[in-house]
Amino acid sequence: MRILVTGGAGFIGSHTCDALVARGHEVTVLDAVTPPVHRQGRPMYVTPGVDLYIGDVRNRDLLANLLRRTDAVYHFAAYQDYLPDFARFTDVNVTSVAMLYEIAVAERLDLMRVVIASSQAAAGEGLYWCPEHGEQLPAMRPDAALQAARWEIGCPTCDGPMTVRRTPERVANPQNAYGMSKHAAEVLALNLGRRYDIPTTALRYSIVQGPRQSVYNAYSGACRIFSLHYLRGSAPTLYEDGQSLRDYVNIHDVVDANLLVLDDDRAVGRVFNVGGGVAYTTEELADIIRRQFGSDQRARVTGEYRFGDTRHIFSDIDALKQLGWRPQRTPEDSVAEYAAWLPSMPDLDDVLARSQATMRSLGVVRTVAGGRLP
Ligand SMILES: NC(=O)c1ccc[n+]([C@@H]2O[C@H](COP(=O)([O-])OP(=O)(O)OC[C@H]3O[C@@H](n4cnc5c(N)ncnc54)[C@H](O)[C@@H]3O)[C@@H](O)[C@H]2O)c1
Repeated sequence: MRILVTGGAGFIGSHTCDALVARGHEVTVLDAVTPPVHRQGRPMYVTPGVDLYIGDVRNRDLLANLLRRTDAVYHFAAYQDYLPDFARFTDVNVTSVAMLYEIAVAERLDLMRVVIASSQAAAGEGLYWCPEHGEQLPAMRPDAALQAARWEIGCPTCDGPMTVRRTPERVANPQNAYGMSKHAAEVLALNLGRRYDIPTTALRYSIVQGPRQSVYNAYSGACRIFSLHYLRGSAPTLYEDGQSLRDYVNIHDVVDANLLVLDDDRAVGRVFNVGGGVAYTTEELADIIRRQFGSDQRARVTGEYRFGDTRHIFSDIDALKQLGWRPQRTPEDSVAEYAAWLPSMPDLDDVLARSQATMRSLGVVRTVAGGRLP
């Protein structure tokens, strides 16, 4: 098959290209190869054998030219540093999807599959349960609550304690500009795909882990931040109280899911969660990384938090499991592979300081009132 992979020089895209080329597909990559992801330009790990076009996915003529000689598309190109440049999220992440379908419809292209990379961020705070009022989709936490170190979310009706549930695909409750853009991209792709008979699947990845994960973004990646600290011999900071729940999925499991939906027709017209299946607190993840680096310095709670973070999110992966996929690797596997790869990246010295300074100056990282926990 002739396959176009947008964002194929990135983390998930390049691993997916490796697998597609190994299976004999003819792969073309369209990637802008720009900072902050690619500080040094074209990365070493671009898959040998792919045809790489360096350009913007919103360049209509270029995209149209590439789509004309394509049977299937993986659309990974996206902007995803969670900073307050809101317009850029819709501009890159939503416009690109609309343009892809606009070209496919205008030129009556015969695409066998379009796979859209969505995100768990489309589900936002996810699904909660109040013993008295049942299922709840909470709104975002006000800064006043975070300033007072009230991390957990009370029931919107009675303010009583709630438990977090595995969040299925029917939930869409995005809380930041990135999540909203990913949800919009999903809705556009699935609806236009249905209307114009372009077989489309959207995959909502949880936090993906493994080598080639962007090192230089300001925001992304607990695994990256904790690993950089332990690599340098310092102890990382846990935001909030370190008890936020997340699920982490290994990059090779993600590639397996990507390949599965390429030619399984049961996936057409649907969105699937692609997650790790097990919830970890941030503190537990930090401890896995600490052990990997052989450090005895535990991560610290300092009263810092990131404004806009969801408290808990944990994906229900039953739908994709019913197609025969399941996660095969653990966060320990991911962390080991990441730790072996990380030192090969250049210019690591200032990464932590720069990302912390950027997030502080933009008001993303904040400290509880009085500068310390009550
Ligand atoms: N990594 C994760 O944990 C995760 C989780 C959920 C969803 N996703 C989604 O998966 C996809 C891939 O993520 P990733 O982690 O590999 O990211 P990445 O940043 O490593 O890769 C994205 C690639 O897209 C390219 N790109 C960005 N803007 C572009 C543009 N305008 N035109 C052309 N290329 C452009 C970048 O140069 C980069 O190579 C994204 O859509 C992301 O939103 C990732």
